[in-house]
Amino acid sequence: MNSKLSVEREVRDTATRTRLTNELTYQTGFGNEFSTEAISGALPIGQNNPQKPAFGLYAEQLSGTSFTTARATNLRTWMYRIRPSVLQGTYRLIRKDSNALAPLDVAPLPEAQRWNPQPLPDTPVDFVDGLNTLAISGDPATLSGAAVHLYAATIDMDRKAFVNTDGEMLIIPQQGTLCLITELGMLTAKPREIAVIPRGLKFAVHLPDGPSRGYVCENHGSAFRLPDLGLIGASGLANRRDFLTPVARFEDSDAAHELIAKTGGQLWSTTLDHSPFDVVAWHGNVAPYKYDLDRFQSIGSISFDHPDPSIYTVLTSPSDTPGTANADFCALTTRWAVAEHTFRPPYFHRNVMSEFMGLICGAHDAKAGGFVPGGASIHNAFTPHGPDAETYRRARDTTLEPHKITESIAFMFETRLPLRLTAWAVQTPQRQHDYQQCWSALAKQFDGDRHATE
Ligand SMILES: [Fe+2]
Repeated sequence: MNSKLSVEREVRDTATRTRLTNELTYQTGFGNEFSTEAISGALPIGQNNPQKPAFGLYAEQLSGTSFTTARATNLRTWMYRIRPSVLQGTYRLIRKDSNALAPLDVAPLPEAQRWNPQPLPDTPVDFVDGLNTLAISGDPATLSGAAVHLYAATIDMDRKAFVNTDGEMLIIPQQGTLCLITELGMLTAKPREIAVIPRGLKFAVHLPDGPSRGYVCENHGSAFRLPDLGLIGASGLANRRDFLTPVARFEDSDAAHELIAKTGGQLWSTTLDHSPFDVVAWHGNVAPYKYDLDRFQSIGSISFDHPDPSIYTVLTSPSDTPGTANADFCALTTRWAVAEHTFRPPYFHRNVMSEFMGLICGAHDAKAGGFVPGGASIHNAFTPHGPDAETYRRARDTTLEPHKITESIAFMFETRLPLRLTAWAVQTPQRQHDYQQCWSALAKQFDGDRHATE
């Protein structure tokens, strides 16, 4: 068993936290039946729920699917912990200053929407307090759709944990590294990496490099999984071996902690008289994981035309309609553009699915300006969008040579349900009210007297 972090107890001071971050150990694979123990002998052999677990530990199961879900997609993890999760105080509803994370929203808007990056706060704000909800599709109460949050944090969550019962959280740092302390171990995520926290798993976010800013997709539907590869074959896109899951580690602490729960779009707070990160051993396939987007093997055209962006799917949350995702996460990373006699940037389109886009670094090949790292855009179902006027002009007139797209990572959350903006998204000063103007210079160029093959 992996036990490199076996007896570490606290991560309070910076020196200790940095040392732990540098020594992190991971298990590889996606959706494996992982097994890990921080103390040798803590993990039961041959059964899940012994009469007396070793070392006086309590056994507790965390489900990721219903008990009777088919074996191939059934998700659950058994934890062996110092205290069971039922040891918690009474919850009280937290009122926030803005409508962040609240279910108040407005109807889907027919226009394309875009935002400048949110500035980092100049006051101490942790990850949970620094979350603002931009848009919501579906409803966590019906296990449908996804929410999009932006976060900007400047301080650690100190003796404070978060649990999201509404959905799993796919976290994409755009600036600064995150150290994610979870019940099942600790992992880091820096820009160009993503991390996924399963629904219902307690975690805290520390900032080993200082302030951090980024994006969160809160998936209310079935847990993200790897897409089928079909005719691509056995390997390609995101490969299973490149996903990393932490090993067990625990804090044996009697210090009081605050636990924030997100339930039904509302935030609730309770107190614990101990650290919730007290799982000494665990086994199962509900687990947090991270992925380096630079490991993504892009598949594209080596002849002509611009394929649909579904070729960039890293993770998918299927719906009950085959081929129509509850949510897809797509990443556009380093790749060659070689298609001949082709308009290479993303084409003009109106999509039945609703799209959220973010930019981690560099420049997106559909926009000459206005969409910068940390920024965001939403194009709801059938909202026309595509290359801006300057990108169109350049791509139409350029001499086509093989071209490598480097230093740019854009990503997309795509959902079959309309994205409704929150009041915060509508009112924030970062909203670009003139986004539509980026297409205004697309002049009529039709000339019916010219030869059709010009
Ligand atoms: Fe699009």
